[in-house]
Amino acid sequence: MSVETPVVAVDGPSGVGKGTLALSLSAHLRWHLLDSGALYRLVALSAMRQRTALDDETTLAGIARTLPVAFSVQPGQGVRIDLAGDDVTRAIREERVGDAASRVAALPAVRANLLERQRDFRTAPGLVADGRDMGTVVFPRAPLKLFLTASAEVRARRRAAQLSVPENSATFEKIYSDIISRDQRDASRTTAPLKPADDAVILDTSELGIDQVLRQAITLIVDRGLQ
Ligand code: DC
Repeated sequence: MSVETPVVAVDGPSGVGKGTLALSLSAHLRWHLLDSGALYRLVALSAMRQRTALDDETTLAGIARTLPVAFSVQPGQGVRIDLAGDDVTRAIREERVGDAASRVAALPAVRANLLERQRDFRTAPGLVADGRDMGTVVFPRAPLKLFLTASAEVRARRRAAQLSVPENSATFEKIYSDIISRDQRDASRTTAPLKPADDAVILDTSELGIDQVLRQAITLIVDRGLQ
């Protein structure tokens, strides 16, 4: 009998600390890391660079299928992402790329063409997969599924702090309203909407620091005999 390579799925909306948790967990376990949001961001960036309309599903699906991407772990600095040989690690994090990513992520043909690419990341000794549908669609048999939540206000505050934006400003209000509208788009799309898997463990990170979230995740991994 073959034993499946274990996957820890880390899902939830943006700003809940998923990326930080997934990166810390993969370093702690020495497992591979899949940042699935980066794939949607890469499709969006490619489309923007070649001026493809963000609702041209056929062309966008082709971009998703042939995306010339390379991920390389830079010890202590996270992951470097190259698109056709061009370092786009920072470019894909821009707000406008995130917004475009949320639009292309709503297209079923784009999601379908990214499915196998994501599953290919599942290699020994294990995978930490960060996204929105890791536990529901991409790795439905993952032995541990975490779903992180935090209030929209806490997430807006975290984002504002990253951008050095004061909390009583118009920019803060814009960050807050963008978070709410992106959540609505991600949760209401018909293909793979953002929702916890039935067997996911929900972690509310509103009041928790990254170390506490990491400790809880490690306890669950040990309890389930994954390491
Ligand atoms: O996690 P992120 O902000 O990098 O994700 C960018 C966009 O991609 C976000 O709007 C949601 C979407 N996404 C998705 O639909 N499914 C995933 N597995 C990961 C991200």
